[in-house]
Amino acid sequence: MCQNGWMHRRNFLASAASFVAFQNNSTARAQSAAAAVSGRSAEAVAQDEDFWFNVRHAFTIDRNIINLNNGGVSPAPKVVMDTEIRYLEMENMTPTYYMWRILDPGIETARRRLAQVFGCDPEEIAITRNASEALEIVQFGLDLKRGDEVVTTNQDYPRMLSTWQQREKRDGIVLKQITFQVPPPSLDYLAKRIEEAITPRTKVIHICQMTFRIGQIFPVRQICQMGRDRGIEVIVDGAHAFAQFPFKQADLDCDYFGTSLHKWLLAPIGTGMLYVKKSKIPQIWPMMGADDSLRHDIRKFEQIGTHPASQRNAITEAINFHESIGVERKAERFRYLRRRWANRLRDLPRVRILNNDDPRQSCAIGFVNVEGMDAVKLNAYLWSKHRIWTTAVVTPGEYEGLRITPNVYTTLEEIDTFADVMEKVIKAGSISG
Ligand SMILES: Cc1ncc(COP(=O)(O)O)c(C=O)c1O
Repeated sequence: MCQNGWMHRRNFLASAASFVAFQNNSTARAQSAAAAVSGRSAEAVAQDEDFWFNVRHAFTIDRNIINLNNGGVSPAPKVVMDTEIRYLEMENMTPTYYMWRILDPGIETARRRLAQVFGCDPEEIAITRNASEALEIVQFGLDLKRGDEVVTTNQDYPRMLSTWQQREKRDGIVLKQITFQVPPPSLDYLAKRIEEAITPRTKVIHICQMTFRIGQIFPVRQICQMGRDRGIEVIVDGAHAFAQFPFKQADLDCDYFGTSLHKWLLAPIGTGMLYVKKSKIPQIWPMMGADDSLRHDIRKFEQIGTHPASQRNAITEAINFHESIGVERKAERFRYLRRRWANRLRDLPRVRILNNDDPRQSCAIGFVNVEGMDAVKLNAYLWSKHRIWTTAVVTPGEYEGLRITPNVYTTLEEIDTFADVMEKVIKAGSISG
């Protein structure tokens, strides 16, 4: 008994010590966890709870909430938060000196590292505050005239659609939003839906690499090629794709790509990135006026007045953390978690899982529709009774349901609790209590 007590205490002290180590140096922990599984396939590591245990302890999140809405915005690991806070304290000491002279040059390192992740020249990367800013730079920055047409989908991000609608009112352009079936019958079908909307007046195609509603991945390369063949600019909204699953700029062959970094890269809240192919930089107006000497310089998109350097400098640490896990392992883990709950629910009555399981079409974002059940009420019930935090998505006249987005710190117990509660509600046929 006494010996057992001592053992427990010793184990407790050992785990408490390693917990402190996780907190203080979570990138090193993630790296040593990665070293321990080196040589094993990402599919095998996806199911290795010892590996994900190390990753999980890099975060200081509220463990009493089952957070299945990481798609909105994600918490950063503690090492990234600490880095940001250190830079913030530093820049506040004498901002004109520490922020402008000491920290601002560090942004060039973040630019270089982001370019490595995306596989492009650093001179093609602008750091923005989020995906909205990145995409709107291109949406507002392209010269378009009255009658010019923009083709997009009704499942693109609402703010990006409002941006085009503002140009409709202001400049007389025409926005065409195509609809598409979910899950789509094939990737070719998606490309075809876009192609059918093209007319001689089409000047821009605006698509999501992964939609925010059900997480459908689009055939971006095919659509970029289609646009290039016809002299149409293609804007890729990569808010959900970047750092969620592996790909490079060359895989997309895109000219414009905007993303958040505070979603799947786990960078500080308030960071985003815009890629513009070098030859296209001069033709895009910056959203805020920039000196004409910067016409060919990607930094013209960063001329936004005084802003903190602390968040942007901490992007580099987020990239270190991301690479310590490895994007292939992240993607396989996300698919494993999605399949774990979806496979339990998919054969129950009135359930439709709206994701195509083909890895070219889905990854972390899962979507469940329960026919006849109000998604907003179901979402509220999961939260109020079970502290499960999801997102209700309603696409009027088409479908509704819950969007489920876990993260690298999500436990199997959390996924199983969600599946248990959903199973009960679905079998009961109504939301009770
Ligand atoms: C597809 C898509 N595009 C753009 C955005 C805007 O991202 P942000 O809020 O980082 O500007 C989001 C946000 O959820 C999104 O899902």
